[in-house]
Amino acid sequence: MVRLALSPKILHGLDFGAPAAERDIGRGLEKYFVESPAYRRVEAGDKTIVIGSRGSGKSAIFQMLARRERSRGTRVIELSPDDYSYELLSATMAAEDAGSWAKHGAYAAAWKYLLYVLIMKEVARKGMRLARGGADIHRYIRDNHSTVGMGPLSLLVSYLKRLETVKLGPIEAGARTRELDRLYKLEEIHNLLPSLRRVLDGVRVVVLVDELDRGWDSSEDAQAFVSGLFQACVSINGLHDNLRVYVSLRQELYDDIPALYEDAQKHRDLLETVRWSPDSLLKLIARRIRHSAREMGYDRDVLDRAGDLSCWNAVFGNPPGIPAAGSFAYVAERTLHRPREIIEFCTAALDAARDRHPTLPLPLGAIGWAEPGYSADRAQDIAAEFRFQYPGLLGVFDAFRGRGPVVDRDDLEFVCLELVTGEIRVSAASWWLRERSPENLIEILWQVGFLKAKPNGDDSPFVGVHEVAHLNLAAVRRFEVHPMFQSYLGVSPG
Ligand SMILES: Nc1ncnc2c1ncn2[C@@H]1O[C@H](COP(=O)(O)OP(=O)(O)O)[C@@H](O)[C@H]1O
Ligand SMILES: [Mg+2]
Repeated sequence: MVRLALSPKILHGLDFGAPAAERDIGRGLEKYFVESPAYRRVEAGDKTIVIGSRGSGKSAIFQMLARRERSRGTRVIELSPDDYSYELLSATMAAEDAGSWAKHGAYAAAWKYLLYVLIMKEVARKGMRLARGGADIHRYIRDNHSTVGMGPLSLLVSYLKRLETVKLGPIEAGARTRELDRLYKLEEIHNLLPSLRRVLDGVRVVVLVDELDRGWDSSEDAQAFVSGLFQACVSINGLHDNLRVYVSLRQELYDDIPALYEDAQKHRDLLETVRWSPDSLLKLIARRIRHSAREMGYDRDVLDRAGDLSCWNAVFGNPPGIPAAGSFAYVAERTLHRPREIIEFCTAALDAARDRHPTLPLPLGAIGWAEPGYSADRAQDIAAEFRFQYPGLLGVFDAFRGRGPVVDRDDLEFVCLELVTGEIRVSAASWWLRERSPENLIEILWQVGFLKAKPNGDDSPFVGVHEVAHLNLAAVRRFEVHPMFQSYLGVSPG
């Protein structure tokens, strides 16, 4: 492998990019995007629902897809986080128990309505030559949706309100059934769908719905909003091969919505889960290093010939004292294998070195200087990520302070018992602890990534939830506090 040396002079310009894809796209994501088989399945339209943890790269996939589709002349509609507000929905819509009004189905119909209107608006935009059938669509949009400034959400809410009024309002039963039928069948636009199909013969439209977890509050409306969207997505994607609606969702949210479970067969084959391994993460960082060096005038061929690990070592070195597997393994072990984590850790190490001892490769201590801040941030981020399912999780992590990284099952069950019985006091917000058994709590701490487990005997390594698909946790005898949390908790590495 070619050894790469980078001059300390480029330290000032070295850049690992922005930790969120929406900003990273302006910093070079297109140049250093790692194209996985998962991405290609999404791009091909075979998979339309992208599932992944926070920071795993869901938005990156959508950002790249949007750019590439646009460059081919596709019409791309992006629904952004400001477009939804769960709080507003809960405040606006009547509760399910105010009358049996089957929210899930109502949201599905409202989503279909919204998405079809947005799609028709897009194809009827000025300057589009609308062949065959386009005139109907144009007329409909002009007559019904020409007001500017109506956000997408208000269109959805207005349709929901129509359904709600019919369902809960004082209407004679027969008329109610007829009226509901019309609304569920989207009668207002139904007769335009054949025209839309013809228009789609000549133009491709892609809709991207991202960041659904922003502001997520697990409320009845939030759940119906997402499950309704899934149903709408499956139905609309059947209209034409040139029309694709893509949705991204965090794994935990997906698991948190019972209606999605019930529908699981309908979309299991459409799901793509984003996963990373140490090798693919190394590739991700190496590409960023090469890109950065190239921008500062380094020879492309030299950089391309250098392997991923050479690129890493040219920046981070391979200091003795760090375990034999090297500095990359040390960093990767302190992540849940999510790109955002590794970008943040590397950037923190770079910043720390710039402040204290600007050389390349970075000085021995750089990773260690960055670790306490990184570890504390991650502990807080993970707790925040689960604040609806498990409020006060940080306090639960804190119960492991100073206990040593490796715990036997008996000791772990004892700590967990103290937590669920209130023997160890945590914030009052952690009501959920009271309903759990110690085994339950171990399962939760495993699921959120806090604990790693040694599944098969003493010689096997500890593995985390991000590394194995299935694990019989009940049979595990030894656990480890994930190294990512150890510095924050003052646990010295074992
Ligand atoms: N396939 C990829 N190639 C290169 N960088 C990626 C890739 N996937 C994610 N990233 C980067 O990782 C970070 C987090 O990704 P992002 O898409 O924002 O995560 P999220 O799943 O939370 O939307 C961003 O900086 C993004 O550019
Ligand atoms: Mg995102």
